[in-house]
Amino acid sequence: MSERTAICPGSYDPVTNGHLDIIGRTSRVFDRVIVAVVGQGIRKSTTMFTADERRDFLVDATGGLANVEIEIFTNLLVDFARERRATAIVKGLRAISDFEYELEMNQLNRKLAPELESVYFFASPDYSFLRSTGVKEMATFGGDVSDLVPAPVAEALHRRARR
Ligand code: PNS
Repeated sequence: MSERTAICPGSYDPVTNGHLDIIGRTSRVFDRVIVAVVGQGIRKSTTMFTADERRDFLVDATGGLANVEIEIFTNLLVDFARERRATAIVKGLRAISDFEYELEMNQLNRKLAPELESVYFFASPDYSFLRSTGVKEMATFGGDVSDLVPAPVAEALHRRARR
């Protein structure tokens, strides 16, 4: 049987332990995982970290997973997935509040690429209320985020907060 590739897309501004939980679980279900970092999105016009910084945090944090690769993409997600011959897009679902947005994305992506399946992993309870925006806010005001993000990300957030 041919190799099954999954794409885990996102802004990852910055990567959190919740993202890493989904990426790790995806790597156990699929043969190959490509974590696709949004180069320049429309919904989030400004990011705290550059695309290269966001990619580098992920490369560092997923170093132990042999079947995981990190790439920045700048085209449509479904086109990127087709170029990589992916079978599925994998997303994490936290609370009900994620559902509406993910349903919209699902319908749009399905219309453009009906052959590409979207698969959802429920967030582990420890991470069900963790999102990058909240982490950035806490760190900016001096909160301790060391349990929520990888150590290099926590350090970078605190360096920015001190500026
Ligand atoms: O939750 P995020 O980080 O904003 O998700 C980003 C992404 C790319 C997964 C989401 O915006 C999506 O599914 N977009 C589909 C439309 C698309 O391909 N846009 C181009 C890249 S933003």
